[in-house]
Amino acid sequence: MTLTETTLLVVGGSSGIGFGVAQAALKAGAAVTIASRSAEKVEKACARLGGKVEGVTLDTADAAGLEAFFADRSFDHLFCSAASTRVAAVRELPLEDAYAAMQSKFWGAYRLARAARIAPGGSITLISGTLSTRPKPGTALQGAINAGLEGLTRGLAVELAPLRVNCIAPGLVKTEMVDTLDGDGRKAMFEGAAERLPAGLVGGPEMIAVQALAIMANPYMTGATVAVDGGGVLV
Ligand SMILES: NC(=O)c1ccc[n+]([C@@H]2O[C@H](COP(=O)([O-])OP(=O)(O)OC[C@H]3O[C@@H](n4cnc5c(N)ncnc54)[C@H](OP(=O)(O)O)[C@@H]3O)[C@@H](O)[C@H]2O)c1
Repeated sequence: MTLTETTLLVVGGSSGIGFGVAQAALKAGAAVTIASRSAEKVEKACARLGGKVEGVTLDTADAAGLEAFFADRSFDHLFCSAASTRVAAVRELPLEDAYAAMQSKFWGAYRLARAARIAPGGSITLISGTLSTRPKPGTALQGAINAGLEGLTRGLAVELAPLRVNCIAPGLVKTEMVDTLDGDGRKAMFEGAAERLPAGLVGGPEMIAVQALAIMANPYMTGATVAVDGGGVLV
């Protein structure tokens, strides 16, 4: 149960949770390819990873591009954290932004899983979020997208077997995505979350990565959604 000498594609690997997974997998001896939409972000991430990683530009919105990419390539493992979603209350979020969020996170993962060529014994790991089971006011859509991904995970695990399909549901994680919040709001959110969470801290990408690598390496795990959230669903 090791990732040594396995191949891993991390879509969303140029930033945040995906970057953390790429970093941890490299240390574990995997041959890692990272992908996202921006060639510049991919290039910078490859440099930060020490250059021992392949970088490619892929957009999960582009079904034909995904099919073309996998036409002559396969991987042992696929990790997908690619998404860009605006989160706001149902009556405040413009409908086009709501549809775009579902397109990006749910349909993006669906298109990727549909196109991906994964070697026998390999795995796909998706990312949802604990809002699926514990929504807060202003997060109904994000919770629904996450719940959809968790349902997709279970269905794909049955349909694509023996390929394994799992999902990680993170709570709040300090990544570039949450950096887009304004300074005061971000500080207050982190301080409040650390006080509220049973674990007493806000997670980092490396804490999601530990779980992701364990899922990929464990041949007895499929169809599971694992919360990595500092105990957030309990309080
Ligand atoms: N951070 C948290 O607190 C948290 C909590 C729960 C769940 N999550 C979920 O975890 C996932 C990752 O979050 P994160 O914090 O790591 O975000 P992030 O730092 O913004 O990273 C997102 C990554 O996805 C790529 N990406 C976005 N859209 C893409 C597309 N259409 N095709 C290919 N790549 C795409 C981005 O690069 P490009 O811009 O170059 O495409 C970037 O590499 C999201 O689904 C988020 O909802 C995050």
